[in-house]
Amino acid sequence: MLLLCLLLLHEAPLAHPYKEHLQSTFTNVSVEYSPEFCGSITGWLTPQGNLNLDIHLNRTLRQGLRTAITLQQRVGGGYQTLFSYDLDTCRTLGELLQSSLMKVWLRNVFRYGHLATRCPIQPAHYDLRDFQLENHSIPGYLRPGLFRLNDTNYYRRPRGGRRRLVATFTLDIKFY
Ligand SMILES: *[C@@H]1O[C@H](CO)[C@@H](O)[C@H](O)[C@H]1NC(C)=O
Ligand SMILES: *[C@@H]1O[C@H](CO)[C@@H](O)[C@H](O)[C@H]1NC(C)=O
Ligand SMILES: *[C@@H]1O[C@H](CO)[C@@H](O)[C@H](O)[C@H]1NC(C)=O
Ligand SMILES: *[C@@H]1O[C@H](CO)[C@@H](O)[C@H](O)[C@H]1NC(C)=O
Repeated sequence: MLLLCLLLLHEAPLAHPYKEHLQSTFTNVSVEYSPEFCGSITGWLTPQGNLNLDIHLNRTLRQGLRTAITLQQRVGGGYQTLFSYDLDTCRTLGELLQSSLMKVWLRNVFRYGHLATRCPIQPAHYDLRDFQLENHSIPGYLRPGLFRLNDTNYYRRPRGGRRRLVATFTLDIKFY
């Protein structure tokens, strides 16, 4: 879920080596979730702008789960979309874990809490504490500014019906 989203944000520097090292701070977090899947999800920031999350997952998440990720930059009074992906969550996680660079990166993230990395994702309490993006791994195409990352996890309904929401995370991030 959110882990995948953070992974993707980190995928870019592999392709585009960064020139300067930006720092980042989270400036807001909001979460919506479906009680069908989650007992509760709470997200909050530390005074330093690090991210904490508590996720009580009450139902197994299986093959078929999808993750829609949008990164937007604040421009004037509005937002401009930089990229938008809609991925098969389980397949993408599996593929990313084949990459040794990603394994190193994942070990890094595991220092911050208890998270799931493969499907099926079992009902459990997952958490993240005092998380910040690594200074050296902020994608090189990003310039200083305000950004919004939206990660929506959902299942498709048959015959193109409405999405069945699992959870949506929205993170505001400042790069400077
Ligand atoms: C943070 O996000 C929430 C939910 O979208 C919003 O109501 C609130 O105004 C935001 N706070 C700031 C400081 O942007
Ligand atoms: C969800 O799971 C938690 C344990 O992780 C449990 O305490 C809670 O009662 C469950 N909620 C529902 C609605 O099943
Ligand atoms: C990034 O750099 C700042 C300033 O040097 C430092 O305070 C912060 O701990 C660094 N963050 C990480 C994740 O290393
Ligand atoms: C995040 O994306 C979902 C689905 O694309 C959308 O319903 C929701 O309004 C978005 N939230 C924000 C804060 O942009």
